[in-house]
Amino acid sequence: MFKKIAGTKDILPQDTFCWQEIEAISRRIFSLYNFQEIRPPLLEEAVLFNRSLGESSEIIQKQMFLVKNKDGLYALRPEGTAGVVRAYIENNLYKKSGFSKFYYLGPMFRLERPQKGRLRQFHHIGCEAIGASGAVLDAEIIAISDHLLSACGIAEYKIKLNSLGCAKDKLALSAALRKELTAQAGKLCPDCRVRLKNNVLRILDCKVESCKEVVSGLHLEGACLCPECGAHFQQVKQGLEALSINYEISPRLVRGLDYYTRTIFEITHPSLGAQDALGAGGRYDNLVKELGGPDAGAVGFALGVERLLLVTSHKSQVTSKKLVYLITLGEELKKCALPLLNKLRKEGIACDTDYENKSLKGALRRANDLGAAFVLIIGEDELQKGVVMLKDMESGKQREIRQEDLIRELSKTYCSSEPENLSSRPCSKNKFSGESRT
Ligand code: HAM
Repeated sequence: MFKKIAGTKDILPQDTFCWQEIEAISRRIFSLYNFQEIRPPLLEEAVLFNRSLGESSEIIQKQMFLVKNKDGLYALRPEGTAGVVRAYIENNLYKKSGFSKFYYLGPMFRLERPQKGRLRQFHHIGCEAIGASGAVLDAEIIAISDHLLSACGIAEYKIKLNSLGCAKDKLALSAALRKELTAQAGKLCPDCRVRLKNNVLRILDCKVESCKEVVSGLHLEGACLCPECGAHFQQVKQGLEALSINYEISPRLVRGLDYYTRTIFEITHPSLGAQDALGAGGRYDNLVKELGGPDAGAVGFALGVERLLLVTSHKSQVTSKKLVYLITLGEELKKCALPLLNKLRKEGIACDTDYENKSLKGALRRANDLGAAFVLIIGEDELQKGVVMLKDMESGKQREIRQEDLIRELSKTYCSSEPENLSSRPCSKNKFSGESRT
């Protein structure tokens, strides 16, 4: 028997509606903010990520899924930002529309050691706003992530905020840190001693106790922000306050990707354990230019869908649309099943039937398992009289109805005030609550 690769998951039919719901909520919210969907390829030239994320980043060093080919070296995308920026430049979108707002949903790949909430194939819901540098946009990007999480019924998350400043500020911060940490190099873990030379900012993020202790003694708040970056950060905070979004300043927050400048943020959830980031993002004002495009400020974020599903614990309010289940009694009558199903489907009524020659009892049980709203039963008697038996599965009541009135009768229910996806089939494991705070 073949088994799936460690760190990958089958998303089975009983769970896909949770995914569809999260995706539908995301699409709705992104469209409220006038973002448009973009679908770059999953495969890109590996060098795109090397240039964007930084040679010394953990992803480039250890986590890329590389595909060697006679044309060169490709990579399965480890994140979405680099591909979106590449597409923005390559398709001249900056010439056509200048400032652009994109969102994307889809799989990302990182060769990590699998554990709870850490997969090798996982999914992002992300967005990128490219072509503007104002702090209002940073606040709005954070507001979208907050809106999305609350629309998914997720609470208790924390938004951690910091500013790395511009490229010069980052260099100044790195130099100051290097100076201070070199004096304490003996207390750092072996990885951080290497980072001291090639990526000193990452030491702030190290999870090793001795390193955390050293880092906790550093005085970092706004340490190296130039006046412009200081003012920008101030405006981001004011923007969030104006929107009543709770955040926490986290001077030790750094991100694992080199492209960030100025605002960075991370959203954590206490129930996630060691991998507690639900999502993260920030500004990357130099990336578009570095990849060959214009000088365009940009900011975005990505949420990890598997982690969103891990923290949604309420019973789902959502299932598939109302199903009609047709039971025909006897082999002969099966023949009339297909045309009737066809007619119903063409009227937009979702329906299914018994393909296994079950008894009436067995077929009714199956209809119940499928969550059918109605069952139609046709036996010899009904056929003779030109009627069908319509059973309402919720009330258990059944009545005869003339075949020619069937569509009209069912359509009434389909056009009733209930939204089409209200019902109560829960996800198999992590249940996902419907929209609750929008
Ligand atoms: P990131 O922090 O690397 O940022 O990933 C964003 C989120 O993806 C994480 O907070 C986490 O929820 C989820 N995630 C990351 N790695 C894994 C994994 N191995 N298994 C499961 N979930 C994972 C980015 O990728 C940036 N591109 C975000 C961004 C967009 N910044 C600006 N624009």
